[in-house]
Amino acid sequence: MKAIIRDRYGPPGVLKLSEVDKPVVGDHEVLVRVHASSVNPVEWYQVTGLYFSRIGNGLRNPKQKTVGADLAGRVEAVGKDVKEFQPGDDVFGTSGAAWAEYACAREDRLVSKPANLSFEEAAAVPVAALTALQALCDKGRIQPGQKVLINGASGGVGTFAVQIAKSFGAEVTGVCSTRNVELVRSLGADRVVDYTQEDFTERGDRHDLMLDIAGSRSFFDFRRALTPKATVVLVGGRMTYRGLGPLPHVLGTLLTSRGRSQTVTFFVSKSTKEDLAVLRELLEAGKVRPVIDKNYQLSEAADALGYLGEGHARGKVVISV
Ligand SMILES: NC(=O)c1ccc[n+]([C@@H]2O[C@H](COP(=O)([O-])OP(=O)(O)OC[C@H]3O[C@@H](n4cnc5c(N)ncnc54)[C@H](OP(=O)(O)O)[C@@H]3O)[C@@H](O)[C@H]2O)c1
Repeated sequence: MKAIIRDRYGPPGVLKLSEVDKPVVGDHEVLVRVHASSVNPVEWYQVTGLYFSRIGNGLRNPKQKTVGADLAGRVEAVGKDVKEFQPGDDVFGTSGAAWAEYACAREDRLVSKPANLSFEEAAAVPVAALTALQALCDKGRIQPGQKVLINGASGGVGTFAVQIAKSFGAEVTGVCSTRNVELVRSLGADRVVDYTQEDFTERGDRHDLMLDIAGSRSFFDFRRALTPKATVVLVGGRMTYRGLGPLPHVLGTLLTSRGRSQTVTFFVSKSTKEDLAVLRELLEAGKVRPVIDKNYQLSEAADALGYLGEGHARGKVVISV
């Protein structure tokens, strides 16, 4: 089968389309004929070899050659302990090697694909939407009527966060650049701040919950936009080709916010069947829709990753297989 692999860390050009063996399904796994995947910053970190992503995966060269977290496709075979799926089922979820014609995924990281979504739309969902859902619900404890600020509302995580926050009855302010103002408004944001024209920290509005996805401002700046008891969930920050990526922003914000009345927290999202099922319900009900910026073919995975790495994706970057 064809798969995208890499032998060393480096720029997106290290990714190559190669002929490899079809994976063998484990007892609790499902073998999926992948129809689509998508691109997330996690692949940027893994491929370029950001320092923290090398821990456990080879300090000099990557032990795991394959890449790709999100997948949507059709079940080809199931392991002997798999109960829920059978060949022919359409599914979406996460794997570790989804930029390929076939990938194995754990049964507990898949759910059935919503019938109203294409494979490309379903593949746009898992990592970005799970992150938005867990940031808002598990970490942010979002409540109806709360004022929620989403800094970085137009990218993969942000476009889902705006819609999920609205579905929970929050009053949402999204921060993005000029070309994305209409998009973020169309996703349901009550207010949109164009960061090229206006400083969201100087508007005088106070928010109960903030998702810091863009990592563009310090705690001392953005606390002006928070209520005294607000919760801030640090999701990410700027991606850099080498070095530490968003970590300096995350650690700096955690340190500078110590002893303040607001609660500031960081988390790493997890792929769970329960949360994928919540997302499926929101998608089936039409409360959330994936926004797809660009669609690449598997052979163009390096271009897809390079585009994401520029840091201005508008919704999700998808790969058709
Ligand atoms: N903690 C976790 O578990 C987790 C999971 C997934 C992702 N993340 C992190 O979250 C971050 C975003 O991920 P993503 O998938 O949403 O990335 P993405 O799709 O590449 O999003 C980039 C977006 O950021 C916006 N942006 C850039 N500068 C901005 C600024 N100064 N103010 C506001 N928005 C700005 C861009 O909009 P413009 O073009 O309008 O500037 C673009 O739409 C990354 O750092 C990633 O590592 C963390």
